[in-house]
Amino acid sequence: MYRLKGKIALVTGAARGIGEAIAHAFLNEGAIVYLSDINDELGFNTAKKLGGSAQYVRLDVRSEQDWRSVMDLIVSTHGAIDVVVNNAGITGFEGGDLVHDPENASLEAWRAVHETNLDGVFLGCKYAIKAMRPRGVGSIINISSRSGLVGIPGAAAYASSKAAIRNHTKTVALYCAEQGLRIRCNSIHPAAILTPMWEPMLGNGPDREARMAELVSDTPLRRFGMPEEVAALAVLLASDEATYITGSELSIDGGLLAGSAASLRAEDA
Ligand code: NAI
Repeated sequence: MYRLKGKIALVTGAARGIGEAIAHAFLNEGAIVYLSDINDELGFNTAKKLGGSAQYVRLDVRSEQDWRSVMDLIVSTHGAIDVVVNNAGITGFEGGDLVHDPENASLEAWRAVHETNLDGVFLGCKYAIKAMRPRGVGSIINISSRSGLVGIPGAAAYASSKAAIRNHTKTVALYCAEQGLRIRCNSIHPAAILTPMWEPMLGNGPDREARMAELVSDTPLRRFGMPEEVAALAVLLASDEATYITGSELSIDGGLLAGSAASLRAEDA
């Protein structure tokens, strides 16, 4: 039984990582999937590799014009869209600028992270609602982060943008419900998922394995999560199994936020 049979889905930032895994899982569940990104070569090759109904379209999530064009294309081809996954996101570390603490980060870097992560999700929700409104039904899935739930001293803009995504998700969910629409909107909060996003932090040196272990040392399950594990959650939220889930935030973090990082032993308590 295909859980997303015939649903039309758009995934942003789908050339690689979590977005690619979500596109793959959606295809396996019978959806017609548009993969979008700004890395056209990789996006095109990923869509080709995934095969089936997968198609690549360029969509810079920061561009309102791109959102209009892509949604017009999908709606004119299929009459509607059922699922939009606002996945594209950046940490700000991509260009090698590792200074993102609240005292020293540049205003330019702060704005660039918000432009992709937050403006991109705002536009994605805006155009998803418009495209879903005629049929009055759909699922919007916003990829936030555990960094949207707690402060991150070394990644101020990333944490701020992801926190804003969490709250905007709830605003969108309530707005759609208020309007009598069955358009659901939920956020997913992953932590430490092994994708190319981590490469600037991991490097390719001899200490790579040690760095990986160090990065997940606070995670109760003591490992990185896999993109496919996040994709499984996205499939649930996209499907008709989740028709009563809206405005919610779902963590997928190996237990990281389940308790305090201070691991008290029973005898210390
Ligand atoms: P990634 O860096 O591997 O992939 C991100 C994709 O987004 C890339 O293909 C990139 O070209 C694309 N992209 C960047 N700017 C774009 C723009 N303006 N318009 C369209 N596409 C753009 O990242 P990953 O790890 O797959 O992350 C996906 C989402 O999951 C992001 O929102 C990220 O913040 C979030 N996330 C990731 C975690 C992790 O540990 N990997 C943890 C928590 C959240």
